Amino acid sequence: MRNFSNFSASRFIEEAINEIKNKVGTERAVAACSGGVDSMTSTLLAHRAMGDRLTAVYIDDGFRREGEPEWVMRLLKRLGIRARLEEKSKEFFDALKMKVDPEEKRKAFREKFYSVIGKVVEEAGGRYMVQGTIAADIAETVGGIKTQHNVLEQIGIGTERYGFKLLEPVRGLYKPQVREVARELGLPPEVVGRAPFPGPGLAIRVLGEVTPERVAIARKATQVVEEETREVKSFQSFAVLLSDRCTGVVNGRRVYGRIIVVRVVSSEDAMTARAIQVPYQILGRVSRRIVGEIPGVVRCLFDLTNKPPATIEFE
Ligand code: XMP
Repeated sequence: MRNFSNFSASRFIEEAINEIKNKVGTERAVAACSGGVDSMTSTLLAHRAMGDRLTAVYIDDGFRREGEPEWVMRLLKRLGIRARLEEKSKEFFDALKMKVDPEEKRKAFREKFYSVIGKVVEEAGGRYMVQGTIAADIAETVGGIKTQHNVLEQIGIGTERYGFKLLEPVRGLYKPQVREVARELGLPPEVVGRAPFPGPGLAIRVLGEVTPERVAIARKATQVVEEETREVKSFQSFAVLLSDRCTGVVNGRRVYGRIIVVRVVSSEDAMTARAIQVPYQILGRVSRRIVGEIPGVVRCLFDLTNKPPATIEFE
């Protein structure tokens, strides 16, 4: 991570707003807003620079947490930002159909994401697209670790074919600085402290092929893990559905069931991470709820691995 010891959030905000104003002039823009701290901060910076010439769009790709689309739309409304919801889950599931390789899945997600956004930008009469790419996303993609969904120009992919130019106001910052900027902008604490959620969402927390049924299992498991580990101070706390199955016994009969992995990590900037020693009592509750509340899941595992060599996400 770069040395940010002299970082001033208020100075950064002033400069970022001026940069957006200078680039955009009197044009319109669309901000892709997932409700995470990176995209909310970028959206708010653009809104301060452009007011109602900015439209925030939440794309419901079908891979989000439970209740997320409604939560984000309420938040944007409360912040006075013009916003629209695009329900595109069928398109995204189709785009990922039969894909099992993680990089193929990520690239298919990225392609669909930008073509959907391109249409929204066109409909809004805009020329710019605002996104919350941060320095760690760029470092991971450029470094060849994995294709993050929101890194294009830095790997030589122009955005002309999608019909917009990019604005990435927080691209030079890592997560701790983004949180400082978010706080300084007055974003609510639940946004400032929000756990990161990957752009491709549950699509990369379901290993192997993405289907609505498998995503629903991962969504419910994620909800359980997040609820039960609320008291654990973590960077990310989530569930992953494995592609393998295993033998279990339900009501005295053999079943060949699903396996969920629980991952709880601490990290500063997402470039390295440590598996947290979650108290066994909490893990026990997580496991009992997951196998008890999600039909078909018969086994729950806990991931003890640090990054490196594991990455935070499984795909
Ligand atoms: P990994 O798995 O590479 O994750 O250790 C590092 C951080 O990045 C998040 N992540 C993503 N964020 N688009 C994003 O916006 C992506 O494609 C993506 N992939 C991983 C991950 O959740 C972790 O915080």
